[in-house]
Amino acid sequence: MLTGEFFRAGDVMVFPTRRMRRSRSRTIQPILQQFQVAKTDLVVPLFVDETLSKKRPIASMPGQVRYPVNGIENVAQELWDRGLQAVLLFGIPKKKDAAGTSAYDDQGAVQKAVAKIKKTVPDMVVITDVCACEYTDHGHCGIVGQTRSGTDLLNDPSLELMNRIAVSHALAGADIVAPSCMLDGMVGSIRSALDDEDLEEVLIMSYSTKFASAFYGPFREAVDSGYYFGDRSTYQINPANAREAFLESQLDAGEGADILMVKPAGFYLDIISDIATLGLPVAAYQVSGEYAMIKAAGRQGWIREKEAVMETLTCIKRAGADLIISYFARDVAGWMNEE
Ligand code: PBG
Repeated sequence: MLTGEFFRAGDVMVFPTRRMRRSRSRTIQPILQQFQVAKTDLVVPLFVDETLSKKRPIASMPGQVRYPVNGIENVAQELWDRGLQAVLLFGIPKKKDAAGTSAYDDQGAVQKAVAKIKKTVPDMVVITDVCACEYTDHGHCGIVGQTRSGTDLLNDPSLELMNRIAVSHALAGADIVAPSCMLDGMVGSIRSALDDEDLEEVLIMSYSTKFASAFYGPFREAVDSGYYFGDRSTYQINPANAREAFLESQLDAGEGADILMVKPAGFYLDIISDIATLGLPVAAYQVSGEYAMIKAAGRQGWIREKEAVMETLTCIKRAGADLIISYFARDVAGWMNEE
């Protein structure tokens, strides 16, 4: 690191000897770029809807769609051909109930999609979102019941549900399961459940530091996971709390997470760089609201979409993310292939 002393006045390090612009010339600049987003850094979120027979656009996320289960392997193949190597699957079930039982149905949308993708594109890394909010009729992320402060998501009774979901995804062929419910103890609990089923090769990417963010709005339309009472602030982290954000990831690291995650990404770069010090790979999730904002402004002609997207992704990488989950991934790979 350079120290303040290094820049003492009178030192050769100052103008006119030192000219920063020398390195910014059109010829020199490209070889000195410090961080570069690669296709292998990107993870493509995919929505798989059991009720559909053809794909359906998501209004709040222009350019994004829900796919039917049938044919999802072709979508994966097309992404693979573009150079993308990882997808993150979300399911939309036919029926929801209070206990989210269809989430661990071995014939569910995610389970079937995983199997189809792994069969057609065996080297595609298939990650699954492990959560119950798309599968519960109340829209919360697990089992709901009475607590000292009213009706709320129950922690310990929901862990068994997460174990069952994770195991069903792993048995279907998922390479990585990604619990996103922010329950205490979820990583340790899922790790033992997987190991009990001889699934010790399956990784856990924990949504370890997930904030209670307004930027998930479009996603909830995308998967019909809006909640019918309360909100998620009793399980997701208050965006104002950096120390708590660090501790959450530290605990998940201790419980055996293979990959940590910060979500949302773009407004949480300080958190990403803190968590990168824990020594595990870090993923950052550029969420639906971040996508929708850039899309909306781009469509209005208020910002240049492609440049804005590349800037956000590069900054997320610069902050310390090894993996970036982004709805722009497909477009980005396309742009890179054109160059
Ligand atoms: C929970 C989950 C959510 C997202 C990913 N997994 C929603 C939530 O916590 O309410 C948000 C993703 C996005 O906004 O793009 N299953």
